[in-house]
Amino acid sequence: MLAFAALLLLLPLGPLLQLQFTLAAKSVPRALNITTIAANPQKESILECWRLTAPLLESSVPGTSGAVFAQLGQGNATSYGLIPPRFDGGLHNAPAIQWVVFTAGEAVISFPNSSAQATIHGGRNGLILAADIASVSTYGHITMYPSNQETVAIQIPLENNIVPDHTVLYEGPCRKREQDNYKQ
Ligand SMILES: *[C@@H]1O[C@H](CO)[C@@H](O)[C@H](O)[C@H]1NC(C)=O
Ligand SMILES: *[C@@H]1O[C@H](CO)[C@@H](O)[C@H](O)[C@H]1NC(C)=O
Ligand SMILES: *[C@@H]1O[C@H](CO)[C@@H](O)[C@H](O)[C@H]1NC(C)=O
Repeated sequence: MLAFAALLLLLPLGPLLQLQFTLAAKSVPRALNITTIAANPQKESILECWRLTAPLLESSVPGTSGAVFAQLGQGNATSYGLIPPRFDGGLHNAPAIQWVVFTAGEAVISFPNSSAQATIHGGRNGLILAADIASVSTYGHITMYPSNQETVAIQIPLENNIVPDHTVLYEGPCRKREQDNYKQ
C-alpha cells in the first residue's frame, strides 16, 4: 500500500487527484483506542486507554464495502440493558471481561480509593472494555448513571474471559476524539 502510494506520487498526476488520494489514505484510522477499566498489580481497578491490536480493515462485504471494521472477538451471552434514570450501580467488579456499549444516557465510573473518574456518554464514543474481574481487582469500580433518562448498555462478555490483544497507551480514559479519530 505504501509502495503503491509512493509510486503514484512519482506519476505526473494532476494536483487535485494527488490531493484526493492523500486525503483518503490518511483519513482512515489504523486501530481503535478503547477506554478500559483495568487493574494494576496491587489489584486496584484503574482506567487505561488501550490501543487494540486488531486493525481496522477495509470491508469488501456487500452493504459495507469500503468501510473499515475492527474485529472485537467472539462474544458470549450478549445482553441489552435499560438502566433507570439517576441509578447508582454501586461498587462492583466486572462480572466478566466484557465490551460495554453505551448507546444512550451516560455512565460515570469511579473508584473506592482514588480520585480517578471517567464519564462515558452514550453514542459515538460509548464503547468501553470492563476488565476488572474479581480475580484481578479486590474491590472493582463504582458506576453511577446520573442521566434523567434511561441509560442503554449493551454488554458483550468475551468468550472464556480473554482480554483482547492490546497495548496500553496511557493511564486514564482515552482522550476525547482519540477513540476512532478520522484524521482530517
Ligand atoms: C479501599 O476501598 C475499600 C472499599 O471501599 C475499603 O474497604 C478499603 O479499606 C480501602 N483502602 C485500601 C487501602 O484499600
Ligand atoms: C458464557 O456465559 C455463561 C453465562 O454467564 C457462562 O456460564 C459460560 O461459562 C460462558 N462461556 C464461555 C465460553 O465463556
Ligand atoms: C489513539 O491514541 C493515540 C495516542 O494518543 C493517537 O495518536 C491516535 O490518533 C489515536 N487513534 C485513533 C484511531 O483515534
